[in-house]
Amino acid sequence: MDFDEPVDRRHTTSLKWDGMGRFAGADGADLLAMWVADMDFRAAPVVCDALAEMSKAGLLGYMSDLDAMRAAVAWWMKTRHDWEISDQEVLTTHGLGNALALAIGRLTEPGDGVVLFTPVYHEFAGRVNAAGRRPVEVPMSVADGRQEFDLDRAAAMLDGTERLMIVCSPQNPGGRVWSTGELEALGDFADRHGLFVLADEIHHDLVYPGHRFVPMEAVTDLGGRLLTITAPSKTFNTPGLRVGHMIVRDPALRRRLVAHLGALGIQPNMAGVVAATAAYSPDGAAWADALVTYLDGNRQLFEAGINAIPGVRAMALEATFLAWVDFSGTGMDQAEIEERVLSRARIVANPGPSFGPSGEGHMRFNLGTQRARVEKAVGRLQRAFADLQ
Ligand SMILES: Cc1ncc(COP(=O)(O)O)c(C=O)c1O
Repeated sequence: MDFDEPVDRRHTTSLKWDGMGRFAGADGADLLAMWVADMDFRAAPVVCDALAEMSKAGLLGYMSDLDAMRAAVAWWMKTRHDWEISDQEVLTTHGLGNALALAIGRLTEPGDGVVLFTPVYHEFAGRVNAAGRRPVEVPMSVADGRQEFDLDRAAAMLDGTERLMIVCSPQNPGGRVWSTGELEALGDFADRHGLFVLADEIHHDLVYPGHRFVPMEAVTDLGGRLLTITAPSKTFNTPGLRVGHMIVRDPALRRRLVAHLGALGIQPNMAGVVAATAAYSPDGAAWADALVTYLDGNRQLFEAGINAIPGVRAMALEATFLAWVDFSGTGMDQAEIEERVLSRARIVANPGPSFGPSGEGHMRFNLGTQRARVEKAVGRLQRAFADLQ
């Protein structure tokens, strides 16, 4: 597992590398892509081998069942997260963007409010808006450099038309790993306000030493009012294969969602199923462990380098490869921060406000790349803000 192996993703139809000119309105061979949340490593060999075998056999007809993949998902949840689920509780979608849209469409009505804790993955609000529902964006508070839910503030923002709450666990961006107590409090809040909970746990495997991911379902008692969504794609770097999972423990909710998926003709792609089955295995686990160790090195290097710039603070990541950097101590406005990051540092990163209004003064940087690129990025950012020294 050589995560330092140089990989050039330009001209591979990579959104992150080939789409950055369109996204940032700038181009050039010197630009560093640190935006879209995939990694610059080749996918785990266990996944690539399974796909190669599938291709070599050349048997690409209709699939009879997804039993092997569902068993692999259940095995992964039990062995990696101490979460007991049964194979039958696993449904399949085309990734989690698709799962979000499906859940919002089935569990809410047009005009309903959907509670989000921001800053959070921009597609949450995007899907809610696209479905004609209303995002209720509750800013998180930050205490001692760590994000926290502000449930009093959330309660004050509700007007009774909210039906759904989407929880990002671990949090993107910011990287908080929510504790059992925090998840229980969220569950109680949802219960009190009659909210259905959608727990997006896609980053659950990318957790750094000293922290432990807790599945929301394992510590709350929401029954048929909780839906967990997750995927192998962040862990194994396979998002192009578009496979995600809904884990639905409640039989009545499961029947509703199975019917919804059937009505929309959602049928998984064989390549994604083969990849997920191969990934959720002992070989996949060994690869994921090595990956987390490598990413932990990246984030430590990045945080130390960024925190050396006066007025700039990288939140200490507990999980994810998505660094959340607060530039507000520089006194610069968002436009100047973005201009310096793009034009002086030549880095394409995500502007903080795209994750909700509380992202003002921030940028998100993707550290899922070779260490040499992280080093380069830190040096460039230090120089771009060198006049503050
Ligand atoms: C919290 C969260 N959910 C979902 C996704 C996207 O999932 P998918 O690629 O399966 O659509 C991302 C990608 O960054 C994410 O961070």
